Amino acid sequence: MADTTTIKHVASPLARQTLLDGDLTRPVAGKRPIRILPWLQVVKIGGRSIMDRGADGILPIVDELRKLLPEHRLLILTGAGIRARHLYSVALDLGLPVGSLAPLGASEAGQNGHILATLLAPDGVSYVEKATVADQLAIHLSATRAVVASAYPPYHSHEFPGSRIPTHRADTGAFLIADALGAAGLTLVEDVDGIYDADPNAEGGDKAKLLGDVSAADLARHSGTLPIDRAMVEVMANARHIARVQLVNGLKPGRLTAALRGEHVGTIIRTGARPAEV
Ligand SMILES: Nc1ncnc2c1ncn2[C@@H]1O[C@H](COP(=O)(O)OP(=O)(O)OP(=O)(O)O)[C@@H](O)[C@H]1O
Ligand SMILES: [Mg+2]
Repeated sequence: MADTTTIKHVASPLARQTLLDGDLTRPVAGKRPIRILPWLQVVKIGGRSIMDRGADGILPIVDELRKLLPEHRLLILTGAGIRARHLYSVALDLGLPVGSLAPLGASEAGQNGHILATLLAPDGVSYVEKATVADQLAIHLSATRAVVASAYPPYHSHEFPGSRIPTHRADTGAFLIADALGAAGLTLVEDVDGIYDADPNAEGGDKAKLLGDVSAADLARHSGTLPIDRAMVEVMANARHIARVQLVNGLKPGRLTAALRGEHVGTIIRTGARPAEV
């Protein structure tokens, strides 16, 4: 058995204590993390709401993104859409675990990213893999104005087993990377004017009310359907940098441009991040 008196301690304030005791770790870990890419705008393009529409949905957004390049440096992330839903149903029918479904969804989000990047290639935009987003985004965005990647977070076989369908999908991935990078903003592009108190496309949807400004905490209490991942709403409570996310209608030309200029043109979701505090 190891003799604990022979353990050699290194000179680190965290070396001698459990990392589970917040009172002990707070003096060391309580500082606000730095913003790695404070000039970055992250834009998530909906898989189902935009990409699955084909040319009608995609070409106007490509045109708008192209015009935004001189103004912003962008990480463009794509969602998975209908093909992932088909894959989930086949995989669930076969009894595959959630850790097998997550990479399937991620690969579909990646395919949508490849489509978008191909259309933006003449403007110097390429698709990049997750490892590049993690380690080499700064050099890529010094060479060009934007890159495209899959929005899906790479939990893959580590996806939490709380449900049979992956809980951490494209919106959650987009939020986690935007907050981790300390980006200037995150905009979600879909086919609705924002988040309503009920699905505006469902039966009786003409009575649904648009929520112009809503907190993540209120959304967490909302019992109906949402056009965003529930898991994103949950992680928003612990956001470190991104104080607000705007969801805009990508089928209405100019909305994305206005949102990136700081205008209120969709639903603003307020997170738990408090920019002024340390
Ligand atoms: N409360 C709500 N407010 C607005 N839209 C809603 C609401 N509830 C459901 N929806 C529906 O969500 C749809 C968008 O679906 P979804 O969020 O799955 O697409 P997506 O974000 O493009 O997909 P992906 O996550 O694969 O990228 C809208 O077209 C709308 O009909
Ligand atoms: Mg959505």
